[in-house]
Amino acid sequence: MDSIITIRQLSFHYPDGTTAISDLSLDIFPGEKIALVGVNGAGKSTLLLHLNGILEGSGQIQVNGIRVQKENKGQVRTWVGLVFQNPDDQLFSPTVFEDIAYGPIYQGYSRDDVAVKVEQALAAVQMTGSAVRNPFHLSGGEKKRIAIATVLSMQPKILVLDEPTAGLDPRGRREIIALLRELPQTMIIATHDLSMVEQLTDRAIVMESGRIIADIPSRELLSKTTFLLDHGLA
Ligand SMILES: Nc1ncnc2c1ncn2[C@@H]1O[C@H](COP(=O)(O)OP(=O)(O)O)[C@@H](O)[C@H]1O
Ligand SMILES: [Mg+2]
Repeated sequence: MDSIITIRQLSFHYPDGTTAISDLSLDIFPGEKIALVGVNGAGKSTLLLHLNGILEGSGQIQVNGIRVQKENKGQVRTWVGLVFQNPDDQLFSPTVFEDIAYGPIYQGYSRDDVAVKVEQALAAVQMTGSAVRNPFHLSGGEKKRIAIATVLSMQPKILVLDEPTAGLDPRGRREIIALLRELPQTMIIATHDLSMVEQLTDRAIVMESGRIIADIPSRELLSKTTFLLDHGLA
């Protein structure tokens, strides 16, 4: 099977000289649900920001057979829906409707089609009826679901989520995990939440210092107690 994301020899240094990704190569296949784990500073967020061209390192990334670069960022962003760790980086409109409509409007859909897409995205995150609400007045879990809806409205092939359960209460966590389990997209999820790794993902990629140090079935990772402790993951 052809990979849907292909990363070859990716390296990235922040302007202050910090190396965040070192010579990283990876293939992701359609339909996979992948956990990206690693201690703080391992490079997870930096890697995710490369998948839709927000950051550009050296090396090559292809999504859906197309190289991710300046000229086709717009196209890539309709395929790769990136949900930031902090919903306040994603929600900026006075109403939930406008935040979710932003992508489909950018894609050129008519007003009627945009309205349908907003309703579908709200239904997918179980927030039907919230279109008129102010995103800033929502609870943490609700904000997270609306942030997910803002990318689902573009019908992406791939969902990339940065620590989607961080900061949520137990019910909020359970709801996000249940919601993500129902979605058909290929998913790459950066997380410290080992119970989400277990309940949601098949494959676990462990990063440390900008490199991949393990790429194994999630079940196998969770059974490696000593490895998890040695690498600060449990
Ligand atoms: N804006 C930035 N400027 C400089 N260094 C950064 C910046 N963002 C992250 N880093 C550094 O890059 C490395 C990888 O960080 P990050 O990708 O955020 O890791 P993770 O998401 O796994 O916690 C860390 O050393 C971090 O301190
Ligand atoms: Mg991070």
